[in-house]
Amino acid sequence: MKSSTDCKSETLAVDGGPAVRTTMLPYGQQWIDEDDIAAVVEVLRGDWLTTGPAVERFEDALAKKVGAKYAVAVSSGTAALHAMMHAIGVGSDDSVLVPTMTFAATANAVRFCGGTPIFTDVDPHTLLVDPADVEAKLSHAIDAGKSVKAIVAVDFAGQPCDYDALRSIAECHKVALLTDGCHALGATYRSKPVGSIADLTAFSFHPVKHVTSAEGGAVTTSDEAFATSMRQFRNHCMNRDHHKRQSQATWEYDIEQLGFNYRLTDMQCALATSQLGKLDAWLSRRCEIATVYDAAFRDMAGVAPLERCENRTHAWHLYMIQINTDTCGVDRAAAFEMLRAEGIGVNVHYRPVHELSLYANDSSGQSANCPHAEAAYAQILSLPIFPRMTDSDIADVIAACRKVLRRR
Ligand SMILES: Cc1ncc(COP(=O)(O)O)c(C=O)c1O
Repeated sequence: MKSSTDCKSETLAVDGGPAVRTTMLPYGQQWIDEDDIAAVVEVLRGDWLTTGPAVERFEDALAKKVGAKYAVAVSSGTAALHAMMHAIGVGSDDSVLVPTMTFAATANAVRFCGGTPIFTDVDPHTLLVDPADVEAKLSHAIDAGKSVKAIVAVDFAGQPCDYDALRSIAECHKVALLTDGCHALGATYRSKPVGSIADLTAFSFHPVKHVTSAEGGAVTTSDEAFATSMRQFRNHCMNRDHHKRQSQATWEYDIEQLGFNYRLTDMQCALATSQLGKLDAWLSRRCEIATVYDAAFRDMAGVAPLERCENRTHAWHLYMIQINTDTCGVDRAAAFEMLRAEGIGVNVHYRPVHELSLYANDSSGQSANCPHAEAAYAQILSLPIFPRMTDSDIADVIAACRKVLRRR
C-alpha cells in the first residue's frame, strides 16, 4: 500500500499523469443476467404485453418483500410519488413537508397535484430529515392557517429516517406519513422493512436502483382505498379497467377525475420480478462494499462518510463522503473533476431542491431555511457502489481517493 507521501507525489490524471483506471467506473449500474432476459422474452412470446398477469405477479412479490398488503406498479418513481400525492388528496390549497435533500421529483409530485412543498432541513451528519425541523415547520404552517396534508420522509442514500419521531409528529397533527423510498428498497427500521412503515411508500426501478425494470416504480401501502385509488390513477382514473369491463360484460366506464397513463408493462414487470429475486444477495454485496470503504476512510483525514444510526439496516443505494476542504486541500468541485479524470464516476446527490430555479424563484424556495442541507451540498460526493463492482473496482476507488484527497 502506498504511503500518503507517495500519494501526494503521484501526478494526477487532470495534470497529465496516468489515471487509476482507463475505463470510467459509473457510480451505479444495473446487472442483467440471462434469466432476466429469458423472463422478458417469455412475456414477448405470450398474449399480454401490458395490463396482463406479469403486473400482478410483480405487485404480489413486491408487497410480500416489503411486508405491505398492496403494491401498485407504475411507470417510474416519479409517477409513484405523483400517485401517492393523488391518493391522499393533495390539491391546490394543500402543503406537504418535503426534505430539501432529495431528488427534485419528491417535491415536484406535490406540485403536480397543485400543492406547495414546505422544505425541511436535514441532520448534517446523516442527511436524513430532521424531525425537530419537521415539527417546527409543521406547527408554523398550521398556525399560519395552512392545510398540511403530509410529511414526506426520504430514506436518503438507503438509510431509513427516524420513523418513531416522524410518526409521532404525524399522529399529533393528523397528517399522513409518506416515504420516498427510492433509495431504500430492502432497508429496515427496527426490523420493519421500508415499504411497510409509512402510510404510503414510493420506489423507483431506474437502472441505478436496487432492482430495475428499465424505467419503473411502485407504491406500497396496506390501505385498500389508497391502492384502489392509485390503480385507477395510473389508468386515466377509469372506474372500470378492461378486465372489469370484460368480467361484467360491459363496455362502459366513467372518469370523474384527471388520471394518467402510468402503467408499467408486463415485460418490465417480468424483468422486475426476476430482479427482485436477487435483491437479498445484492444488498449483501452493497453492504460488503460499504464495509471496505468504511475501513479505508476510517483514518483518512478530512473524509467523513455519512453517519449511520442504530436500529436500522442500510440499503446502500449511495455511499457518500463529505470532504473537508481545509484538511484535504481540495474542494468538492475539484475533487469531482480529479476523481473523474482518474476514471472514477463520482456524482453529487443532490443540490438542495429549494435552491433549484424552479423553487428558488418562488416563496417555497425563498422561505426554506435549510442551512444544514446548504452547507452539506458544498461537501458531498457519491462514490461508486453497485453489486456488480469487483474487488479490483473497489480498490481503484480507494486508490483514487487516496491520490486526490490528500493534497495538503
Ligand atoms: C429520491 C428519489 N426520488 C424519486 C426519484 C425518481 O425516480 P424515477 O427516476 O424512477 O422517476 C429518484 C430517482 O433518482 C430518487 O432518487
